[in-house]
Amino acid sequence: MPGDTVFIASDHAGFVLKQTLCADLTELGFRMEDLGPQSAESCDYPVFAHALCARVAAHDGRGILICGTGIGMCMAANRHRGIRAALCTHEYTARACRAHNNANVLCLGARVVAPPLAAELAEIFLRTAFEGGRHARRTALIEP
Ligand code: RB5
Repeated sequence: MPGDTVFIASDHAGFVLKQTLCADLTELGFRMEDLGPQSAESCDYPVFAHALCARVAAHDGRGILICGTGIGMCMAANRHRGIRAALCTHEYTARACRAHNNANVLCLGARVVAPPLAAELAEIFLRTAFEGGRHARRTALIEP
């Protein structure tokens, strides 16, 4: 919800979209914490995924990770205990990953989704509540 801190990070491929989303979401009232990178210089996405997931897990917060496809970020993020990262390309999955899967990290592909759609997906992700109930039983079963 607006006012909550939202962690965001990318690699070089996601850098420009990260800057755009930071501005868009700040305008909507979210407190954005940008964990880098600070330029579009080539870098390794797992470094940023791991840094963001550590913060999300420690703060029981939410995060957004962006790379070229969103795939590498999602793979790296889901190696963390307590992180449920979802790669979304459509508004339905952005909503369902919160409502049904209690996703705490949204992964986006900057080479897949255009900035206006990315902003829409991020807003849906941040405003949708987990439904709990039978879904809570299932998300509890995810951790090995
Ligand atoms: C970088 O070229 C690209 O491989 C990376 O951003 C990402 O798409 C990896 O999954």
